[in-house]
Amino acid sequence: MRSALIAATAIATGLTITSTPAKAVGNLNLICSADVVICEQMKESFEKENDIKVNMVRLSSGETYAKIRAEARNPKTDLWWAGTGDPHLQAAAEDLTLEYKSPMLDQLQDWAQKQAESAGYKTVGVYAGALGWGYNTDIFTAKGFKEPKCWADLLDPALKGEIQIANPNSSGTAYTALASLVQIMGEEPAFDYLKKLNANVSQYTKSGSAPVKAAARGETALGIVFMHDAVAQTVEGFPVKSVAPCEGTGYEIGSMSIIKGAKNLDNAKAWYDWALKPEVQSRMKDAKSFQLPSNKTAEVPKEAPRFEDIKLIDYDFKTYGDPAKRKQLLERWDREISASAN
Ligand code: G6P
Repeated sequence: MRSALIAATAIATGLTITSTPAKAVGNLNLICSADVVICEQMKESFEKENDIKVNMVRLSSGETYAKIRAEARNPKTDLWWAGTGDPHLQAAAEDLTLEYKSPMLDQLQDWAQKQAESAGYKTVGVYAGALGWGYNTDIFTAKGFKEPKCWADLLDPALKGEIQIANPNSSGTAYTALASLVQIMGEEPAFDYLKKLNANVSQYTKSGSAPVKAAARGETALGIVFMHDAVAQTVEGFPVKSVAPCEGTGYEIGSMSIIKGAKNLDNAKAWYDWALKPEVQSRMKDAKSFQLPSNKTAEVPKEAPRFEDIKLIDYDFKTYGDPAKRKQLLERWDREISASAN
């Protein structure tokens, strides 16, 4: 009631919506591309603190990008929270997302602000995390496998059928892996590597974190995932060890974007500002979501893999967040890797 009054007053006095604080009524159609537990937590706490009902679906980052493209003429989604930054940048480049400068922007880490700036403020960074893998130490010990410290170790013929990674068409995690390998090795050697790796891959999953969940449950020995997803399994009590690859690795800037043509724009902005608050980001660890938060004053979970301890590449978000690059790499992946998958 009170928020309806505030909104009505805002309209009556001609206040701009951009500076209206996060109070509104109605619905918010949200796609969440992080793990379902944190998606649910975010939805519940937002609904508790705001007069807005959130209709949420969980979709992987690449799937979301495809859905938003397909619905460009008649958007059914208002806001896309989380998932890897590349598809958010690709959506921004295709003008599928809306420019919005949140009043929270200057509270964010440089990498999150840079993400926004580079996309003309059509997206923003909400968290960051490095790519690596998690392996099941019980399986590795029982089968006598060598500890996998480097990308090169994953080609060990002993690991035939023991590895899972997601499909880069649907999953932002796997697209980050593909783009990272291309940046570390060069495109030809990277595809050569992926062809050899294919011999050891039992399954290309739809969602990015599924491989390490399978490793935790003993369904596979190793999952190539974001390191924080591997840590989450260890914290759950599973025999999973996470690895930062010795040759170096890429990382994600998990992002958030308002969809152009959003039917519930004020509510999308309300979520947007709210999700950048330090107290909201500090709570992510309660859902075992151990990324590095984008708000400078949010608490960094003690479990979060720190960038200082990882050999990170200078990931080229401009190049790999470009729609043409995405198309080219995925078409090649489909042709050369997926077509020959087991
Ligand atoms: C997990 C990670 C997130 C990441 C997301 C991408 O949920 O915890 O940090 O952004 O995967 O999901 P996707 O299914 O697109 O690989």
